[in-house]
Amino acid sequence: MTYILAIDQGTTSSRAILFDATMKVTAVAQEEFTQHFPASGWVEHDPSDLWSSVAATTRAVIEKAKVQAKDIAAVGITNQRETTLVWDRRTGEPIHRAVVWQDRRTSDLCAKLKAAGNEPMVTEKTGLLLDPYFSGTKLAWLLDTVEGARAKAEAGDLLFGTVDCFLIWKLTGGKVHATDATNAARTLIYNIRTGGWDSDICKLLNIPMAMLPEVRDCAADFGHTRADLFGREIPIYGVAGDQQAATIGQACFAPGMMKSTYGTGCFALLNTGATPVASKNRLLTTIAYQFGGRPTYALEGSIFIAGAVVQWLRDGLKIIREASETQPMADKADPAQDVVLVPAFVGLGAPYWNADCRGAVYGLTRNSGPAELAKAALESVGYQTRDLLEAMRADWGGSAEGVLRVDGGMTASDWAMQFLSDIIGAPVDRPQVLETTAMGAAWLAGSRAGVYPDAEGFAKSWALERRFEPAMDDGIRDAKYARWKRAVAATLTV
Ligand code: G3P
Repeated sequence: MTYILAIDQGTTSSRAILFDATMKVTAVAQEEFTQHFPASGWVEHDPSDLWSSVAATTRAVIEKAKVQAKDIAAVGITNQRETTLVWDRRTGEPIHRAVVWQDRRTSDLCAKLKAAGNEPMVTEKTGLLLDPYFSGTKLAWLLDTVEGARAKAEAGDLLFGTVDCFLIWKLTGGKVHATDATNAARTLIYNIRTGGWDSDICKLLNIPMAMLPEVRDCAADFGHTRADLFGREIPIYGVAGDQQAATIGQACFAPGMMKSTYGTGCFALLNTGATPVASKNRLLTTIAYQFGGRPTYALEGSIFIAGAVVQWLRDGLKIIREASETQPMADKADPAQDVVLVPAFVGLGAPYWNADCRGAVYGLTRNSGPAELAKAALESVGYQTRDLLEAMRADWGGSAEGVLRVDGGMTASDWAMQFLSDIIGAPVDRPQVLETTAMGAAWLAGSRAGVYPDAEGFAKSWALERRFEPAMDDGIRDAKYARWKRAVAATLTV
């Protein structure tokens, strides 16, 4: 039997998943690691935690499945995007902890650059906005703050990378400094139209270009793992940012197809084909995947709080012990109450992009209790998704396919998926394979290794577990959504 090893390095845990030659999951290993919050709005990861959790889970999954390293044909990597690392080219030592995508420390720098009129140029080239979310200003902050960093970077002694790039460096023992086009597209310094690092933006942010990695296709040769890691060298043949890997894993290969992944946050991507579509509605234009040097583009809507709202019910309010309890609670919530929760715990992402507003609850009565709040929490995820889809429809016209493919932990809730379908007024498809992100990375590596079928064959293997059809009355849907919009408007102005 031949296997493909997928590494999924996420925001809160690292996972290793072994897929067999028929693309079935053979074994999974997972390890959580420490989140560091050194100041309000700051989020960091220790690079040694990222690496040790990847090293440990990859070894563990191979052991668990009792597979020989010689039977693993290739490795695929997928990762939390935008998170920024800088390390010494010679020693491999990081100069600072990784600055995580959620980190807002560069919001002043972004505001300054915006006030100086730079945003239209940056958006035109990168498809992104001047928001602290992306790597560019995080990298500038590291070079400005860590003593001696800029001089070393200018001398060519420091390397920059997103998490994929750092892992490739570690796995290959420092032989390869490369990333893929989807991860590069999230850095704010990569021109997604011309396909190269952008010297104007690097100049604006004062980033020496010598520290930037080589950008490759998603299914490409990223070198071999060090022989001592698994007992033999294994080629790394696939790399994509996690949301792009999920788009691939959901087989959204045709323009108009879209997927939405519900993890901590929610990220919806709409395949727009070979031409980048500039958003007029504050969505991001990004690269969905790149094969044969040709990028396929996507419109992306990013919501920062989705599954995290259920975590808040559990860890903050302590009204549930586990996520699955939200479903019976939502069922028994008083239908006469219309409690609306705007989970702007860290501000709001697309399409509002307001880093400073905070969450709010509307419509509380003396009878409002845990059930009504649980229902409002699940509904908030549906409303936020509708915000993204409204923006996508406006940007892309009527040709979006209209079916939403979903994945991620929260999709286990039938209640949340039915409400999602009701409020977007479109079918929601939940696939049989829920390891969509890892599957995407595995398919990239496996197809290049000749173990897995091509895109067309892979798309045929995508199988539906359940379709949720909209069942809500149009009048109720419109009234509920209008109420959500008023709640968001109020939250943005408080
Ligand atoms: O853009 C951030 C995203 O890639 C993080 O995904 O699944 O690690 O929370 P996740």
